[in-house]
Amino acid sequence: MNPTKNSVSRRQFLNYTLTGVGGFMGAAMVAPMLGFAVDPLLQAESGGDFISVMSVDDITETPQKKEFQVDQKDGWYETKVTRVAWIFRSGEDEILALSPVCTHLGCTVGWDSNPEYENEFFCPCHNGRYDEKGVNIPGTPPTAPLPAYETRVQDGTLFLSPRAQARGGA
Ligand code: FES
Repeated sequence: MNPTKNSVSRRQFLNYTLTGVGGFMGAAMVAPMLGFAVDPLLQAESGGDFISVMSVDDITETPQKKEFQVDQKDGWYETKVTRVAWIFRSGEDEILALSPVCTHLGCTVGWDSNPEYENEFFCPCHNGRYDEKGVNIPGTPPTAPLPAYETRVQDGTLFLSPRAQARGGA
């Protein structure tokens, strides 16, 4: 092999070297700026902290409507959002906290609000019905149970997750 054929000229060597070093330095400067600019958008929304809602002693078998505030992050913006839950005891040690958002088309569901359907959650928009545990009654428009907040009890206080989650069911 002839070494002179594959040799790199001084000009080429300088070109490669300066391009490489320049590119590296540029990337080193731009990457942190890019990360800072895009970071809030890339952050997966964490579940967030649980929110104190009411004393456990005040929870009854009859659902009670409670409002609570949640911090919501949307990119760079942080706002307070009001959430609503129907909270009640269901069975011995079970506490349920249900979202009032109808799983049909999102209207607001009330407890025992229609005299024709006592002890049920009822949605007035299209006569959607849910039983006393918030499970949709077959043959009515909702196709899934009311979503539920995750519950935690600490020092006699009920804490709820910031968001209600869908439940499987009828
Ligand atoms: S939105 Fe509730 S039944 Fe349609």
